[in-house]
Amino acid sequence: MALPQEGSPERPLEGLSAVVTGAGRGLGRAEALELARLGAAVVVNDYGRPGRDGSGASSAGPAEEVAAEIRDRGGRAVAHTGDVSDFRQARELVRSAVEEFGRLDVLVNNAGILRDRMVFSMTEDEWDSVIRVHLKGHFNTTHFAAAHWRERSKAAGGEKVYGRIVNTSSEAFLAGSAGQPNYAAAKGGIVGLTTSTALALAKYGVTANVICPRARTRMTEDVFAGFQRPDQGLDPLAPEHVAPLVGYLAAPAAARVNGQLLVVHGGMVAIVERPRVQAKFDSKQETFTYDELDALLTPHYADRPAGETFAAAEVLGLTRG
Ligand SMILES: NC(=O)c1ccc[n+]([C@@H]2O[C@H](COP(=O)([O-])OP(=O)(O)OC[C@H]3O[C@@H](n4cnc5c(N)ncnc54)[C@H](O)[C@@H]3O)[C@@H](O)[C@H]2O)c1
Repeated sequence: MALPQEGSPERPLEGLSAVVTGAGRGLGRAEALELARLGAAVVVNDYGRPGRDGSGASSAGPAEEVAAEIRDRGGRAVAHTGDVSDFRQARELVRSAVEEFGRLDVLVNNAGILRDRMVFSMTEDEWDSVIRVHLKGHFNTTHFAAAHWRERSKAAGGEKVYGRIVNTSSEAFLAGSAGQPNYAAAKGGIVGLTTSTALALAKYGVTANVICPRARTRMTEDVFAGFQRPDQGLDPLAPEHVAPLVGYLAAPAAARVNGQLLVVHGGMVAIVERPRVQAKFDSKQETFTYDELDALLTPHYADRPAGETFAAAEVLGLTRG
């Protein structure tokens, strides 16, 4: 297997190249800095629009600042200011990693926007734009990175290559979020995309995992405004609590971690189990009748706690310790 030989315990990503989307601010910035600290050459992608809803003019500023920060610390980085929701620009993004650093090894899909509204008030544009940036954005880069890895594997006579995808979902999908139907749906879609990609690419030596992070960023500054930063030490809501897991998932050590969902924040990582079957009913004849379903399902749900749904609200209570 064509694994890089340069990796050391301190710099496990030495010799690898990574793309991080939406890395001009917030979580993506912390993740790009961490990947560079661990030795990776990084393409820092961000279209740099000023609004967290994706509004305003694009700006090269945020991506270039983070790329410069990495170079100032002795790392290798270039900025890319494309929009990941645009298929062509996503292709250029993946291509730029290959052109700049000779190959792509790690793809961190992180770019995202918010347009919150209750489902009865949400406009078509609020729905479409959030699905487009998160779900289509994740697909676009994944498509071109996957094609790159498949081609590399073919060129190596079918040998496994090195590839890591880290996608970004949210507790808004896991626990449900009444005011974010577009966002919760996009983040659920990203989980489906991750398990599909994990199955499809395993034979090429590529893993795909998904994180549900939590951090104080531009996106969540109002949600977490009530959670004070401590006077000393790291803020439990600092994006720097999320970045180490992304570094680990990108590294050779995580080869056996594939198709997994991990919740991460504040010095804690929780591995979420796949959905499990809670109950099963069989029809008496070949198929069910209405009456039969009524007789089986109505008492079943009558006994279950009110308000319990498929959403895993309990994840919201996870803390370190
Ligand atoms: N902050 C949290 O608590 C939290 C919780 C769960 C999930 N997330 C997810 O983490 C990711 C990062 O969020 P954040 O909190 O750091 O937000 P942020 O707003 O601080 O950063 C997101 C960055 O993505 C960039 N971006 C947006 N759309 C883009 C596009 N189409 N192309 C290129 N760049 C684009 C923005 O310019 C911005 O710099 C998002 O996917 C978000 O949904 C965050």
